[in-house]
Amino acid sequence: MLSITAPAAMRAHAREARQAGRRIGFVPTMGALHAGHLSLVAEARARADVVALSVFVNPLQFGPGEDFARYPRDLGRDTELAAAAGVDVLWAPSADAMYPDPPQVTVVPGPAGDRLEGAVRPGHFAGVLTVVLKLFGIVQPDVAVFGRKDVQQAALIRRMVKDLNLAVEVVVAATVREADGLALSSRNVFLDAASRAAAAALPRALASGVAAFRGGERSAAAVEAAARRVLERERGLAVDYVACLGPDDLEPLASVDARAVLALAARAGKTRLIDNVVLGAGLEGDGRVAG
Ligand code: PAJ
Repeated sequence: MLSITAPAAMRAHAREARQAGRRIGFVPTMGALHAGHLSLVAEARARADVVALSVFVNPLQFGPGEDFARYPRDLGRDTELAAAAGVDVLWAPSADAMYPDPPQVTVVPGPAGDRLEGAVRPGHFAGVLTVVLKLFGIVQPDVAVFGRKDVQQAALIRRMVKDLNLAVEVVVAATVREADGLALSSRNVFLDAASRAAAAALPRALASGVAAFRGGERSAAAVEAAARRVLERERGLAVDYVACLGPDDLEPLASVDARAVLALAARAGKTRLIDNVVLGAGLEGDGRVAG
């Protein structure tokens, strides 16, 4: 595996690969890699000849009171995991190289970026889309893989690619979960034992919404209530939102069908957790990590 830091070196390497007729698959991450990230590498591997993975904790997508400073960073471990997963190029640029000056031109996510995560984290998706566009500009991948765990992020990236005519195929991959259903996240390391136990209510809440849907419930409010009840029963959690959303632009729904997404966010102590499920698919389609 080749390790690169400078954006110019990444650009040159990608250009060479492209000129040799090789398809480039790209997995952008903020590091602290886990089996969820590595499943995206496998998806990219299956669709490309060269797989590049970026590790960059993007300051632009963190708000003033958020966890940028304490976000977990361990490039040594990430390098080992990436190499073992079959990554060809690990690219970890510095913040100075990515933002030599504060950017003046940024991406406007549109109204879908102001709801849900965007309502709780103002400016977050402008930061995400701006860095993803920059990363795409440097790597120019044929295909880029994102996780459905961050469903609003994935939807906005799809929309950016469509609205800005970017020449990249976006693949959105299933969520990888712990044995008890908790979605893997780099932020799970912040959970103490009590918060970790409380966090298991998130997948249980999703399962409860899915069960209501499978029982014939088609009212979004009723599916949301079924999920919300499970979260509210858990003393260690503060609920941010529970919402049924349309499959493409994640617009709020009054009634649901099998393609609808049930999304939720809650805080366990200082740690914010998000998760979602497609009602017709349930949690069974997602990957699991034994343990
Ligand atoms: P990060 O949180 O590191 O996530 C990188 C990618 O891994 C995202 O596409 C995310 O959806 C995916 N992912 C996270 N947890 C997952 C899980 N349990 N199963 C499957 N995939 C999972 O998302 C970001 O970084 C940043 O916002 C980024 C897109 C890199 C821009 O800075």
